[in-house]
Amino acid sequence: MKDNTQAAPRHVAIIMDGNGRWAQARGKPRLYGHRAGGRRVREILTACPDLGVKYLTVFAFSTENWKRTQAEVTGLMTLFKRYITREATALRDNGVCVRFIGDRIRLEPKLVEMMDNLEKLTKDNDLVHLTVAINYGGRDEVARATKRLACDVKAGTLDPEAVDAETLAKYLDTCVLPDPDLVIRTSGEARISNFLLWQSAYSEYEFIDTLWPDFSREIFAEILENFAKRERRYGAVAQ
Ligand code: FPP
Repeated sequence: MKDNTQAAPRHVAIIMDGNGRWAQARGKPRLYGHRAGGRRVREILTACPDLGVKYLTVFAFSTENWKRTQAEVTGLMTLFKRYITREATALRDNGVCVRFIGDRIRLEPKLVEMMDNLEKLTKDNDLVHLTVAINYGGRDEVARATKRLACDVKAGTLDPEAVDAETLAKYLDTCVLPDPDLVIRTSGEARISNFLLWQSAYSEYEFIDTLWPDFSREIFAEILENFAKRERRYGAVAQ
């Protein structure tokens, strides 16, 4: 029998859920949980090279998260700016290449400028690739990609007969990234909430009860060990 078991997943994507409940359980405001969540991002990112993970993608703010209170939305945007300011030098010096996915049009110009600058600052790094999804939704991404593709067809630079899945993938925000091998969601919810819909067609999923601020390097390593035992067939039969 052919051994289809995997080594470490090359690309891990995480839905970081449970910050609000973690804070509420401590009688603190929700933003206290988001701040603790930000520290976990740093810890998990730092563990990636040792654990053999080359690409880490985290869902920081969805296209649906605008429905939260103004105070929480503003607080999260402030947290993203603070994260960029505080971490930029360490990210650059530690070999991290940072990218942002999602629609930037609705984000405040100052934040967009900081995101652009961090991408430029770290673009030549290749030890680990961190992708942060902000104002990201899978359906929105496919719709934006389709719009750009349609513009190229209209302009005569793309032959509609030549359009296939590979063509569309080139228009996605994630065009330079490999598809995620593993998607983790914390906090006990077993749904994907519009995250990397196209890219996760063949991903393995791991839903765990731990709230994101309680996630740790040890839990991460254990999930990766489980992943290594799984068999991935991509629609084929085991041989
Ligand atoms: C979901 O938990 C979490 C978010 C919507 C925000 C995630 C953001 C961070 C972890 C901040 C730092 C990230 C970076 C990269 C700077 P929730 O609020 O839905 O929790 P709940 O389900 O318990 O209410």
